[in-house]
Amino acid sequence: MFGRLKKFCVENNELILGFEKGKGIIRVIKDDIINVFSPLKYDRAFSRAIEDLKIEEVDFDVKEYNNFIELKTNKLIVRIFDDFKVDFYDVDKNVLCEDYRGERQPFKRRGNGKTYQTEAVKGEEKFKKHKIEILKKMYGDEYFYGLGEKTGYLNKKGYYYEMWNTDEPRPHVESFVSLYKSIPFFITLRNGISFGIFFDNTFKTYFDMGKENSSYYYFAADDGNLDYYFIYGPYVTDVLEGYTYLTGRTPLPQLWTLGYHQSRWSYCPKDRVLEVANMFREKDIPCDVIHLDIDYMDGYRVFTWDEEAFKDHKDMIKELKEKGFKVVTIIDPAVKKDKGYFMYEEGLKNGYFITDKDGIPYVNEVWPGEALYPDFSDEKVRNWWADKQKIMLDDGISGIWNDMNEPASFKGPIPDDVQFKNDGRTTNHLEVHNVYGHLMAKATYEGIKKHTNKRPFVITRACFAGTQKYSTVWTGDNHSFWEHLRMAVPMLLNLGLSGIAFCGTDVGGFQFDATPELLSRWVQLGCFMPLFRNHSCIHTRDQEPWAFDKITEDINRKYIKLRYKLLPYLYDLMYQCEKTGLPVMRPLFLHYQNDKNTYELNDEFLFGENILVSPVLEQGKNIKAVYLPEGDWIDYWTKEEYKGGGYILKYAPLDLCPMFIKKGSIIPNFEIQNYIGEKKMNKLILDVYPGDGVYYHYKDDGETFEYKNGKYNFYKFTMKLNDFLEINIEKEHYGYEDYKEFEFIFNKYDGLVVINSKKYQIRDGKVIIKVN
Ligand code: GLC
Repeated sequence: MFGRLKKFCVENNELILGFEKGKGIIRVIKDDIINVFSPLKYDRAFSRAIEDLKIEEVDFDVKEYNNFIELKTNKLIVRIFDDFKVDFYDVDKNVLCEDYRGERQPFKRRGNGKTYQTEAVKGEEKFKKHKIEILKKMYGDEYFYGLGEKTGYLNKKGYYYEMWNTDEPRPHVESFVSLYKSIPFFITLRNGISFGIFFDNTFKTYFDMGKENSSYYYFAADDGNLDYYFIYGPYVTDVLEGYTYLTGRTPLPQLWTLGYHQSRWSYCPKDRVLEVANMFREKDIPCDVIHLDIDYMDGYRVFTWDEEAFKDHKDMIKELKEKGFKVVTIIDPAVKKDKGYFMYEEGLKNGYFITDKDGIPYVNEVWPGEALYPDFSDEKVRNWWADKQKIMLDDGISGIWNDMNEPASFKGPIPDDVQFKNDGRTTNHLEVHNVYGHLMAKATYEGIKKHTNKRPFVITRACFAGTQKYSTVWTGDNHSFWEHLRMAVPMLLNLGLSGIAFCGTDVGGFQFDATPELLSRWVQLGCFMPLFRNHSCIHTRDQEPWAFDKITEDINRKYIKLRYKLLPYLYDLMYQCEKTGLPVMRPLFLHYQNDKNTYELNDEFLFGENILVSPVLEQGKNIKAVYLPEGDWIDYWTKEEYKGGGYILKYAPLDLCPMFIKKGSIIPNFEIQNYIGEKKMNKLILDVYPGDGVYYHYKDDGETFEYKNGKYNFYKFTMKLNDFLEINIEKEHYGYEDYKEFEFIFNKYDGLVVINSKKYQIRDGKVIIKVN
């Protein structure tokens, strides 16, 4: 495609390459992040994912060889050949990633004695040439992760996917190539070494991870620039840090957002909302958030209320607030076509809606019937939408749930040639489709931030790379199927590996009827999902924690309470995520990369580094094979100790989710409360698993941005186990109210403990120390 390499020069951080048929640019972003670029559509990169590209000034050398140019940083060697083929090596010249030199050659598909090429196969991917195709050599022993929200298992090797945000109400199965989210980023792990590739292209993109042929894998696009980032590890944690350095990190959320959420399509009318809320308090089940689905609106008109079903809704919100509940309302992007309706009139008058190619506002159908789509690719429209958040915020709403923003359209797909302003580069639907939800989330985030000055809480269904800066996500319309519970683990792990740390699935399943057993097992997983929300579809069986029987209710209570106990630990993980991009739910290989046994664990994960969770994901199972990586692990429930490095069988009756704590861990706990803020947390409980280890704990006001001005505390706990147990507490940063006391609970330990040089004899396993 590019032909022979004719000339090159270096300008600042760019190696500019002149080919017979085009220009290539290799940009050094950091020692270990290289951008491969060719201006096939626009002169310069135009990224929706990377909004603030920080280029580090690093030294690199460029040398010309016989048939390639070599660029060398402190961490990487990049060789560029004719036809803009690019190979990557580490500095010891070990190959990391090479472009594939041959032609694409799909595996054969036979039928009825004839040989078919893939184009003859209906319902499966077609053999299609794309405008941009980057083929990489496949060695056969690699593992692929990431790619956002995809069905199937953790390792994506051998599968094919498309990035095209899709509203998919049918049961999600492995043959689906796209769902609601598009994150064109994947991680390769091979021989214990990893790197990531972020293909920064908002058009429809294609990822074939060795399905078409096992000699190569490819990523491709219909249009746009050739623009990808090679992010070197060697650890997956480095790759994640690099990817989120580019696209941004999940910011620290308000603490209450990490509590339990209850939702349904729809809690309506107002009395039903209050009834559900009261039930939580009556039943002694903690809950922080009630979600209102589309029926709170007046005829599905966004930013309105059904004044009949929700008469005096402000009073309702106030009453809920007094009981410790926050309310989150759903908002869809499409605006009802309705003369006199303010959103429609304002949007029309100001040209805020997307249009057909003749400039006539484009109409399709969503919940309110005929509706128009705000053009979120236009800053003016984003500002308009951001300001509209005030309507809901003034009513007392605490967070906004963005739905149907793929965007969904009931009357057939939005035509390709529908026009978007795209911040001054008018374009069509093909370029904006995948970032529509992302831009809506950004507008929502900015609106909430402007009008509350608190950390905004946004949930979105559709997203793109980088949406983590603005919003949490849920995985859309799953079903109350065991298969969907099983799939939730790899899906959430891969979302986390794609930068989306704050994510969750509808607990209990959205469509179809949950069984008591399914809900019991799902809440056990939900307890460890960053977004912990039970949500169900209209006309399905009630699915609240108490909807079935006492056993199910007790199990719900037990795991929701456990979540509230673990809140400071989870909050620490969110803080870590803002700093490093590491997710909350982590595949085991993130911390045990040298252990190949961890590469395809689809049914267990680490909740941070210290807690291993192995939920039961099958009906009727009460025993679970749990893989414990190297080290010593303590059963959370029985306190039995296990040596890692193999599988154990764990008895797991319906009320038990196998959980293991790494020896040498200190897990901070809060006292259980009905909702966050009910009690002032003057005491931090430290659940200690004696051994050697270090734990960092973070504390701030849990809602504002004041922590950015230093108003937070950062504690370092160092633990050493020799003849006695020694713990040292240091305050690495002190800018916020301190705890009044630390309560240490020592698991399986009797004897001498020295805390900050003071001696304690442990008998009942507990020590309370006052903080001064
Ligand atoms: C979509 C959402 C779902 C919501 C429903 C009604 O299907 O994914 O969560 O309940 O719309 O608003």
